[in-house]
Amino acid sequence: MAKIRTAVFPVAGRGTRFLPATKASPKEMLPIVDKPLIQYAAEEALAAGAEKLVFITGSAKRAIEDHFDSNQELEQELEAQGKRDLLDAVRGIVPSYASCIYIRQPAPLGLGHAVLCSRPAVGNEPFFIHLADDLIDAEEACLAQMARAFESRNASILGVETVAADQTDKYGIVAAEPVEGRLSLVKRIVEKPKPQDAPSNLAVVGRYLLTPAVYDKLATIGRGAGGEIQLTDGIAALMNDEAVYAYAFEGRRYDCGSKLGYLEATVEFGLKHANLGDQFADYLARLVATRLRG
Ligand code: G1P
Repeated sequence: MAKIRTAVFPVAGRGTRFLPATKASPKEMLPIVDKPLIQYAAEEALAAGAEKLVFITGSAKRAIEDHFDSNQELEQELEAQGKRDLLDAVRGIVPSYASCIYIRQPAPLGLGHAVLCSRPAVGNEPFFIHLADDLIDAEEACLAQMARAFESRNASILGVETVAADQTDKYGIVAAEPVEGRLSLVKRIVEKPKPQDAPSNLAVVGRYLLTPAVYDKLATIGRGAGGEIQLTDGIAALMNDEAVYAYAFEGRRYDCGSKLGYLEATVEFGLKHANLGDQFADYLARLVATRLRG
């Protein structure tokens, strides 16, 4: 697997779809069972070999910093109470070899702008971008799959999935030609096209492995769809100079930016949970039986 050292997590977005839950607390801190979305994100990047985690934050996002920081008081309390498991759970969130860097996005100018803010921390090497809303449950971490694909191509790679034809206006959509296995070569990319204008229904879903050349593009493209600096437009500009690939990852994605997707993830992760899964499955079976009878 290619060594990609840095992962960027754009976490400045407001999360209006989950108000009032996200009024005072970041949407990335919403839990799926017992871990916040942003922890699943960090774990995926760490599993793919990242050791520098760069969070692009905005207002009301302090809880994310606190989550990845050590909390001496809490640790002492758990230690004194002999709660070993919980102590390990709060201590081991980020391993000691990894570092967390927080950069504030000065104004909400879009995803492309958020990524551009990461430049001083990433430097001149390929890097991951991970959008925590898209939770992907996979045997091998999605970013690790992409790092393997990078090894053979040495070019930017976008994580893609086929979506329903009427959903194209929620995603960056690519037109791509098959190369081999799960890889295809991107011919066109467009941000949130209406179904009738979409070049396909292959959507980019919150996983990117990009070469640093994208930064110069992001710095010059200007505002696009919705008046924002779009990552999609930066990638489209990059395609003038470099090949960009799409990778149809193995795994199931949950759109945790939507309430339904969030609930689906909660149920599925609840069913898989080591201590809770069996009990929860019994509960759901009883619930469904009662509903069917009623
Ligand atoms: C962003 C990107 C879009 C991508 C999507 C994946 O949109 O702009 O290209 O397909 O994430 O979740 P957002 O969901 O922030 O509106």
